[in-house]
Amino acid sequence: MTKVLINEHLVDEQDARVPYNDRGYVFGDGIYEYIRTYNNNIFTAKPHFERLLRSAKEIGLDLKYNVDELTELVQELLAANGVVNGGVYIQVTRGAAPRDHAFPTPSVEANVMAFTKTYERPYKLLEEGINAITIEDIRWLRCDIKSLNLLGNVLAKESAVKYNAQEAIQHRGDIVTEGSSSNVYAIKGGEIYTHPVNNYILNGITRMVIKDIAEAKGIPFNEGTFTVDFLRNADEIIVSSTSIEVMPVIKLDGEFVGEGKVGPITKSLQEGFNRYIDADS
Ligand code: PDD
Repeated sequence: MTKVLINEHLVDEQDARVPYNDRGYVFGDGIYEYIRTYNNNIFTAKPHFERLLRSAKEIGLDLKYNVDELTELVQELLAANGVVNGGVYIQVTRGAAPRDHAFPTPSVEANVMAFTKTYERPYKLLEEGINAITIEDIRWLRCDIKSLNLLGNVLAKESAVKYNAQEAIQHRGDIVTEGSSSNVYAIKGGEIYTHPVNNYILNGITRMVIKDIAEAKGIPFNEGTFTVDFLRNADEIIVSSTSIEVMPVIKLDGEFVGEGKVGPITKSLQEGFNRYIDADS
């Protein structure tokens, strides 16, 4: 029986419940992380848990666990579910309380919940690339917080699906920010361009890995804003996340990107990423 972690207890999936007045449900008042496992090992665990603690701090949520304790909790769940290749979502809400926008006083215990998925790496898509659309970024101004409030992201992704694409690349006015659930890179003249880390994007852990790989390979990694037009004229486009890794985009808004096939810089980063997985797992 698949288990779900609810406040330190491993509960059978069918019995896993959160209260109707949990603030995560009522207000989206909470945060989360998605962490990948390769070959029985949690990939880049530390930066993920550190980001969770940062998100908690940024919304004034008192989380009583440190990185080691969170790692242990998640490891226990992954082992119980026998996850070899897959991932784990860990979600923390400000807890259950009578409905009132302001934080509960006195404060209540945060609710910590985690569930796992089993799946293989997306080899075919990594090799062939995906389609993406562009869409106005309608989200709030603290996209650096990995908030449970994902309505803007959900609507963007749904638009992508409607246009037979796998990702929606968002822009605020002319400036490309990030995907609905990924970071975005334009590659032009052998250099990588990606939005700087600030409140408009999530500081992706995969982005950090890609930056490391690019620097090690001597590929210029420019962290600066660029326009939708620049993206359209890129030689290669990549989107990245914990689940899709270094994913090539070969069509944008129905038009081929560059030569319409996975390009050399993308392949080089993918090769670096494979080695990173082996080293970290
Ligand atoms: N999402 N930007 C957004 C809006 C995201 O939702 C994600 C990841 C990323 C990439 O972050 P990372 O490399 O740390 O996974 C960027 C995860 C996969 C999700 O919500 O399922």
